Amino acid sequence: MFQTLRPSVVLSAVAFAACATSKTAGGDNGPVPMQLRLAYSGNTGMVVSWNTYSQLSRPTVRYGLSPHDLYETAWSTISITYPTSTTYNNHVQLRDLKPDTLYYYQPEFSNSTTPYTFRTSRPAGDGTPYSIAVVVDLGTMGPDGLTTHVGKGAGNPLRVNETNTIQSLSRFKSGYDFLWHAGDIAYADYWLKEEIQGFLPNTTIAEGAAVYERILNDFYDEMTVVTADRPYMVGPGNHEANCDNGGTTDKVHNITYDVSICIPGQTNFTGYRNHFRMPSSESAGLGNFWYSFDHGMVHYIQIDTETDLGHGLIAPDEPGGSEGEDAGPFSDIKNAQTNWLAKDLASVDRSKTPWIIVAGHRPWYVSAQNDSSDVCLDCQNVFEPLFIQYGVDLVLSGHVHAYERNVPLANYGVDPAGLNNPKAPWYITNGAAGHYDGLDSLLEPLPYYSAFAQDTAYGWSRITFHNCTHMTHEFVASANGTVLDSATLFKKRTCDVQKNHGYRGHDSH
Ligand SMILES: [Fe+2]
Repeated sequence: MFQTLRPSVVLSAVAFAACATSKTAGGDNGPVPMQLRLAYSGNTGMVVSWNTYSQLSRPTVRYGLSPHDLYETAWSTISITYPTSTTYNNHVQLRDLKPDTLYYYQPEFSNSTTPYTFRTSRPAGDGTPYSIAVVVDLGTMGPDGLTTHVGKGAGNPLRVNETNTIQSLSRFKSGYDFLWHAGDIAYADYWLKEEIQGFLPNTTIAEGAAVYERILNDFYDEMTVVTADRPYMVGPGNHEANCDNGGTTDKVHNITYDVSICIPGQTNFTGYRNHFRMPSSESAGLGNFWYSFDHGMVHYIQIDTETDLGHGLIAPDEPGGSEGEDAGPFSDIKNAQTNWLAKDLASVDRSKTPWIIVAGHRPWYVSAQNDSSDVCLDCQNVFEPLFIQYGVDLVLSGHVHAYERNVPLANYGVDPAGLNNPKAPWYITNGAAGHYDGLDSLLEPLPYYSAFAQDTAYGWSRITFHNCTHMTHEFVASANGTVLDSATLFKKRTCDVQKNHGYRGHDSH
């Protein structure tokens, strides 16, 4: 019976929070590293992060240019946890590395007999072609998330033996430099929905906090096959904000749960803020919310569509916002994000990084219900003028769980050049990576600006930068690796980029 989730049990959630710091739930391997993940930290830095059941006094990474001689050591004092977490988040920044160079590394107490590897970022101005992988809206796979069956009212299960997106990303990882995940990470806040729909066993609200953590840890564990040797750059989505999916309704019992059931540790992006270390200090951004970095011919910008839109607007996840998430804002400075964005865009040297690619969780040009949740008109109001002004090449988003490639457009006007040297930014929404209840139906008829759309297959984006003037976006179907959509953008320009003599080779696609 689901009555165990009635609001009267919320008090016991408080008791859970007070005693949940033993860090042994789900196992206790002490200081043994798990959930390894990397993040670029400037052209000569890399942040190595991992979790442990016990707190480390001095998280340490040994590394070097040979697998047999990890002669360098880096350490920090960052081994942090938060209420309801079962683990500690350890973060160590490795500095003064050679650019575009393969390193071998091991966190302390590792059980692995061979070191892990990472490659530092390509310097700005390096014109060597390369690819990246992009996902949005990717959740836990398996018994707590997307699998071959769903609960009552949910849809889009995997077929038996169907390759899921995490498996596909793993299969193709030799073909991309890093993975960019622009929000909605793990979907731990689906625990309540999954219980109400009979997919997971019912628990109390207090026990649900542990289910939330389990889903989160499942996801980080599953992703390690990718994130231990490919930088994993992330952005904020609404499902990182708190524990209740922004409001969850049990129709049978006529109960709607809201953020008030969420206990500290599962509100206000707490897990997201603790788990990752994005390069905001290197780019004058803010935490894991907005930042930028260069990699070869490209300047990448992560924006925050969830909080801190500024300009007197209430962002979707802020108190009073459309999502009911009650999170943020994270800056006290007026218009902090857009002021930063304008300054960041103005500072790009297009002769070295001709491509500017922006990712934000929420779209505004998309074939979905035109409401403030799926179509973020406030985001459009604050961000689009800057994208147009500074000639952003490509804007990536998700949130709507489908794939839609638009034509380049500005202020709802189609650029007559199409993909042949447009002035307007190109918009692609790909929220089809998959999670429990993983796909949305696009609203038909598709609007005039939609060039290709599909809402039935799970998949991820592969973007290839061929040179200064040509870039290809592909939708890769996770089930079999086929490319369901491919389009190449041409920009007429001259650059000062050169191919690196140390080109290492990639899978060709
Ligand atoms: Fe979302």
